[in-house]
Amino acid sequence: MNAPLPAEVLKQHLIDPEICIRCNTCEETCPIDAITHDANNYVVDPDICNGCMACVPPCPTGAIDNWRLVARAEAHSVHDQLGWEELPKEQAPPIAAGSESPAAAGEPPPAPAAPAAPGAAVPPWSAAHPYVNLYTHKTPMTATVVGNYRVTGADTDSDIHHIVLDFGELPFPVLEGQSIGILPPGLDAQGRPHHARQYSLASPRDGERAGYNNLSLTVKRVTEDHAGAAAHGVCSNYLCDLVKNDKVQVIGPFGHTFLMPNHSRANLIMICTGTGSAPMRAMTERCRRRIDAGENGKLMLFFGARTERELPYFGPLMKLPPDFIDINLALSREAGQPKRYVQDLIRDRAAKVLELLADRNTCIYVCGLKGMEVGVLDALRDVTVQSGQDWSILHDALRREGRLHFETY
Ligand code: A2P
Repeated sequence: MNAPLPAEVLKQHLIDPEICIRCNTCEETCPIDAITHDANNYVVDPDICNGCMACVPPCPTGAIDNWRLVARAEAHSVHDQLGWEELPKEQAPPIAAGSESPAAAGEPPPAPAAPAAPGAAVPPWSAAHPYVNLYTHKTPMTATVVGNYRVTGADTDSDIHHIVLDFGELPFPVLEGQSIGILPPGLDAQGRPHHARQYSLASPRDGERAGYNNLSLTVKRVTEDHAGAAAHGVCSNYLCDLVKNDKVQVIGPFGHTFLMPNHSRANLIMICTGTGSAPMRAMTERCRRRIDAGENGKLMLFFGARTERELPYFGPLMKLPPDFIDINLALSREAGQPKRYVQDLIRDRAAKVLELLADRNTCIYVCGLKGMEVGVLDALRDVTVQSGQDWSILHDALRREGRLHFETY
């Protein structure tokens, strides 16, 4: 075990600006608001951080997991960190006054336990090994656009594109559930290059086309912010306007937990809204390609969209055989139909959901709007409690065993 640190010495938590993709996951996860950001960097406030580690597992790149021993009085300030382009080099540990005996110098109080995150911090036990950060901001790779088309009705406000990128001869190994970063060209308002934007893969590990070194993304053109005010999404508009043979700067891959189980007969419950369907398409396609091998378990999909015409991939999805995947569409604004959310359908299908939850080979994936996180957890709790089971015990097991995963935005 490590000896306790003298009180004057701080193991300072830092974020590597060269690897960070500014996805906001750490700031959202921190239970005590110790993480903040500006247009340049995400940083940790040394006066607030208690080293609880809640933010470390969800970070898709590992940029969050950096620590430096510093004299407490000389900790790197938030102001300094916001200006960094790279982490400071490791220094020799500071020698604190009167610290010959660490125990005598006093130990900082142990960090309080972090509140449990809703999902697992580990992948399913059988997930394949993911590669991450092969290409970084400093060493991006260039992909070629080989396809870009709209997958929502042309007469709707949801302009969602299916974009296929080819990597030529360069290796870019990915797994379903991972994401990549796109570096949009040009400069931001401060005259700096834009930071990367993160997109989940919509294609399986062996390529958008099996055996090809390519992958696909599902990108919604952003024209308004969450509050409905007009806003121009820098990267989404760039991507949606790309044409065949355009070149794109790519970094990644990212993500080491939102991965599918790799053992035969594993069941998948997939719950998504809108472009959150990307990883579900990747996992479903992985399973579809091996139907003949007879290895698939049960697949159950809950998919939320405003209308059928705003549901990406509606046509191909509805062609999948019902004995391969159990599809449940929750439409919230379909004329003449009651408003439905994915969590309503989870309750409607309680019997089947419970049957799958009872099987330790079942993994659950939730991707899409932030707001559905609570709704989905409530629905899973309700169906469990109604069957006489203890949700907190099941929820703990799902997290511990890497069987419940969230990716919301
Ligand atoms: P709504 O019609 O209420 O916006 P979007 O098209 O904005 O990406 O949303 C995809 C779907 O997710 C829509 O049907 C939307 O319904 C629905 N939705 C919005 N908020 C929630 C929530 N808190 N839980 C589940 N679904 C939601």
